[in-house]
Amino acid sequence: MLETATLEQILERHERDPANIIAILQDIQTEVNWLPEEDLRYVCAELEIPPSKMMALATFYRAFSLKPRGKHIVQACLGTACHVRGAVRILGAIERDLGIEGGQTDEDLQWTLETVGCLGACALGPIVVVDGEYHGQMTSAKATRVLQRIKKAEGNGSGA
Ligand code: FES
Repeated sequence: MLETATLEQILERHERDPANIIAILQDIQTEVNWLPEEDLRYVCAELEIPPSKMMALATFYRAFSLKPRGKHIVQACLGTACHVRGAVRILGAIERDLGIEGGQTDEDLQWTLETVGCLGACALGPIVVVDGEYHGQMTSAKATRVLQRIKKAEGNGSGA
């Protein structure tokens, strides 16, 4: 769960107005990459929103995740154009580097690896998106370097 002070800042930023609930949920998700149940409960109580309405909203929008996601989100495109250029091999390299499979999040909530359909940048494929940044003409070695750079920046360079 987010710290109460952080949740309060988010609520204040949106004038504690239930009409701004989507923006509030977006801000929570920006902080932790998913919507922890405790945080949703807190917001419901503070803004007097029925939990059932909150759940309906949180599940309606595909951008929201009610499942824990890592601090870093890696998306490997498996669309046709990327697939024919070796996307599956690259996904395998990323799975080995992170120690998780496509669709999984590691236990420390550091990494989530997702597989996605065409990202609309086929000419640059294979594409891997890391924390919102597109990396084109990807290779297994390039993917490993991108991930190592992030791990190193966080003082975790010697890991898997
Ligand atoms: S198939 Fe990967 S970007 Fe289109």
